[in-house]
Formats: sequence, structure tokens, C-alpha cells
Amino acid sequence: MKYRNFGKSDFKPSALGFGCMRLPQLPGEDGGIDEPEATRMVRYAIDQGLNYVDTAWSYHGGQSEVVLGRILQDGYREKVALATKMPSWLIEKSEDFDHYFDLQLEKLQTDHIDFYLLHSLRQKSWDNYLKHNLFDWAEKQLADGRIRHLGFSFHDELPVFESILNAYDHWDFCQIQYNYMDVDYQAGQRGLKMAAERGLGVVIMEPLKGGRLAMEVPPEPVKRVFDRAKTPRKPAEWALQWLWNQPEVSLVLSGMSTMEQVEQNVASASRSGVGSLTTEEVGIIEEARDAWEGLAPVACTHCDYCQPCPNGVLIPRIFEIYNNTVMYDLGERGKREYHNEIPEDGRADHCIECGNCEDSCPQHLTIIDYLKDAHEYLREA
Ligand SMILES: NC(=O)c1ccc[n+]([C@@H]2O[C@H](COP(=O)([O-])OP(=O)(O)OC[C@H]3O[C@@H](n4cnc5c(N)ncnc54)[C@H](OP(=O)(O)O)[C@@H]3O)[C@@H](O)[C@H]2O)c1
Repeated sequence: MKYRNFGKSDFKPSALGFGCMRLPQLPGEDGGIDEPEATRMVRYAIDQGLNYVDTAWSYHGGQSEVVLGRILQDGYREKVALATKMPSWLIEKSEDFDHYFDLQLEKLQTDHIDFYLLHSLRQKSWDNYLKHNLFDWAEKQLADGRIRHLGFSFHDELPVFESILNAYDHWDFCQIQYNYMDVDYQAGQRGLKMAAERGLGVVIMEPLKGGRLAMEVPPEPVKRVFDRAKTPRKPAEWALQWLWNQPEVSLVLSGMSTMEQVEQNVASASRSGVGSLTTEEVGIIEEARDAWEGLAPVACTHCDYCQPCPNGVLIPRIFEIYNNTVMYDLGERGKREYHNEIPEDGRADHCIECGNCEDSCPQHLTIIDYLKDAHEYLREA
């Protein structure tokens, strides 16, 4: 295993952390966690030197913390830094902080959390934390040693990220979605550098875009790019090495669901290091990104100039779902996302063809036609 720096802290995290959001599951519709297999996987990784495990109140319907608490018995708790997260969306009053935190300690069978995060911060949840005086509570836990490091995970736009960084001088770390396709998404690369410059440890989530960048055989244009490399690597390893190559990345969390993935990612981590990719190899990953993007049916850049649509159609979000569904061959998953995330009156079939969006689109996209294509592709059969 290789170890890295963690902002201004003395902690030396393993390059790979275990994300416990995608533990192996038993067969069946509502299959719970396959605990014997999850135990084998997490303990194997720890035995190989992994020293950071990440869970949250909500993972696996609340069972991830419980199962992880059991996995970390027999001396494993002492070998790792344990990270979990306050369920931001459940906080209604200041007393809720203690309520959920105490339950988490109980579920995880521990008396402290090494890395505690405010889960999935967005402007709304951040405002809610401030309203309930989060820092009064958090600083007491830090002083009492119940929390060792305080941070947050993030899912909003870069300006919100910056304002959260600036609002508190004592953040120890943050967790952001970042991979070679999501360089300008949410906090993105600019957020990564911003946080690292301020001395925060930066934990990476969704390094394989939830598995989309790990297809054994990627689409032909992407495969052709990777096939040109002198050192052959699987697509998952290309994506992970691209992250480990960057000094601002403290550690990469992977949500591994099979023992084979754990073995592969542990082996990849042992080959990792800042600056270990050649310029040519970094170029290959950039070309792979272009090849993926070339598969997108709509060249929308999410500038939002088309918004607001006079009839409320959520054009950029629709194109994002449409593009991802086609690029990563998501099939039914993409359709579900369209139906679950876009309210009925914001969907593509609500376009009244007024043309306002096309007049304001800097890319001169034929938005009206693309909306028809997107709706046809994403509507449920
Ligand atoms: N705080 C937050 O808001 C938040 C949000 C998201 C994630 N997280 C945390 O961050 C962790 C990492 O995110 P993530 O789980 O989305 O990571 P990820 O690495 O982007 O995706 C994990 C998926 O990638 C696939 N995979 C992993 N290694 C592979 C390999 N070697 N070969 C082929 N496929 C491989 C598996 O897909 P299959 O299962 O389909 O095989 C796995 O489930 C999570 O587990 C969670 O702990 C936090």
C-alpha cells in the first residue's frame, strides 16, 4: 500500500479508502448486505494496509454502519480511521445533532469518529446547519474527543463550495466527487485545488463515476485510445491512477462490491504515486475523456443561458441525463433518473417550441429537436 498526505494534518492515509456504500448484497429485490463476504473484503483490504473506511447514516438503508461496526471488531477498529456522516436532511433542531451522532456511535460500536462529515452539503442544508448552530455542537465534540476531524461532503456548485470553505477556519477535510470526466462538475478540479491550498485533506468520492468508467470493455472510440498506451491498464485503473497522480488528492474512496474489485484496486493503489504517470499517459486519459464526450448526443455545456424556460422545461438537466444515458449505456437507469428527478411539468414534452432557448444558446444548439429526441429516448415504454 502507498500512503499520502492529508492536508495540514499528520495523518497519512492509504491511497485507497473503502467506501461502504456499495457492499456486496444478497440476491433478491431487497437483498441485505452479504455480511460474510463484506467482512472478508473489508478485512482483506485492511490487512493489505488500507487505513480509511467511509460510511454514512443512509448507506444500505441504514445497515452499512451496523455491519461495518461488526466488521471492525476483532482488532480492526484500531487499524483504521473511521469516517461517517451526519444525515443533513434529517436535522430539524439542534438536539438532533446529539441524537443521530449517539446512535451512530452505537451502530458503529465505537466511542469516537475519526473523520466526521456533514453529509452531502448543498446551499439549503448548509443554511440549515448554520440556523441550528452546528459549530457550537461540533466544537464541543472535537474538544471532548468524540470527533477527531471535522469535514463535509459536497454536492452543489463551485461558488457554494467556496463560500462553505470560507465560512469556517477549522475545516480539516472535505469529500468531493471527482474523476477524469467530472473535472468541471460541482467542486471539480478548481474546488480540489482551492481546498488543498487551504490545507484541507481532500477525499475523493465517485472516482469511477459510480462504476461507469470501469466497464471491462468501454465503447470502441474510448477503447481505441486506451489500446494505444505502452503500459496496458484496465479502464478502472486508468481512472484511479489519474487521481493518484495529483498531489492535491489525499485519498481515493472506492465503493467496491466484489472481492475481485478489492484485489484489483488494492494492487492499483500499490502502483500509485504523485507524478507516476508520464505526460503521454496523462494525454491518453484526456483523449479518452474527449472520446467519451464524443459519444454524447447533445453538445450542451450546461452554461444555463437557456434558463429559465418560459414553460419551465429543465433543459440542461434533461440533456445531462440524456447524454449520460447514451454515453454510459445506462438504459433503464437513465429512464428512471429522468422520471424521478425531473418533475412532470419540467420534462421535455412540455416544450412549446417558442424558440427562446435557441436564441440564447451560445452553442447554437437546435434545442427544440434535441428535446424531442431526449424525451423519445428517456420516456418509459
Ligand atoms: N458523501 C456523499 O455524498 C457520497 C456520495 C457518493 C459516494 N460516497 C462515498 O464514496 C465512496 C466511493 O464512491 P463510489 O462508490 O461511487 O465509487 P466508484 O469507485 O466511482 O464506483 C464504485 C463502483 O465502481 C465499480 N468498481 C469499483 N472498482 C472496480 C474495478 N476494479 N473494476 C470494475 N468495476 C469496479 C463497482 O461497480 P459495480 O458494483 O456495478 O460492479 C462499484 O460499485 C462510496 O462508496 C461512499 O462511501 C459519498
